[in-house]
Amino acid sequence: MIGIFDSGLGGMTVARAIESLCPGFPLLYFGDLARTPYGSKSTERLIEYSQKNIEFLAEHGATLIVIACNSAASAAGEIMRQRFSYPIIDVIAPAVENAVTRSHTGRVGIIGTRATIASEIYQRCIKERNPAAATYTQACPLLVPLVEEGWINRRETKMIVKKYIQPLRRQQVDTLILGCTHYPLLKSIIAPRIGNRVHIVDSSIEAAKALHTYLEANTDIREKLYNPKKASRYFVSDLPAPVSPMANAIFGRTIQLEKVHV
Ligand code: DGL
Repeated sequence: MIGIFDSGLGGMTVARAIESLCPGFPLLYFGDLARTPYGSKSTERLIEYSQKNIEFLAEHGATLIVIACNSAASAAGEIMRQRFSYPIIDVIAPAVENAVTRSHTGRVGIIGTRATIASEIYQRCIKERNPAAATYTQACPLLVPLVEEGWINRRETKMIVKKYIQPLRRQQVDTLILGCTHYPLLKSIIAPRIGNRVHIVDSSIEAAKALHTYLEANTDIREKLYNPKKASRYFVSDLPAPVSPMANAIFGRTIQLEKVHV
């Protein structure tokens, strides 16, 4: 099965995109809600959690891993590739590729958690692909808790988004990377505030596209993973009250969340 993990709900935006782009591939989702948020954790912690999450998914039958969390991928993506033999796809390289290809001016904005922005992984990867590019970053630590609380369309959320986005708007970026898998859920309030002409890179959709391309290129792995009769499973390490309704809203159907102790 395809194993996907995130600190909580954000990775469900990746799972949803994978479902629609790669139908017939059963998913094993793990949302680490007991330890969320990841964006304020140290590199050492994120490496430890990523390793445990991959082990958990592997124990339940995952043989390909999607790190559906920018914070975990920025701290632990390369290390996990060294430690595990499973193919590991994450959200960062696909988003960089889309941003570099689509930006005309080379002025790219990146929003993410504190961990992702401090890792400078986006800045570094963009520069590697286009040395003339200029990157502008903004850590947005308040956005993940607002999403997890379901405060998507609240006035307070719109005000906070505006505050975070304004400095990037002033820099006249022509491309904005949503460098956190929770942020696609705020896309409709981010887009008008950065300016409707700015290209928005959704790291969740780009990761799903990268997985699709990978499965097309690796037919032996695709055949092993393809099983339309097998149901996907969604695990969480804790289940606070607003999570189930948010999960149902993300997928547009009722999702059976299985609480597990890790
Ligand atoms: N959704 C995650 C990310 O892409 C983690 C957010 C968090 O737990 O802080 O960074």
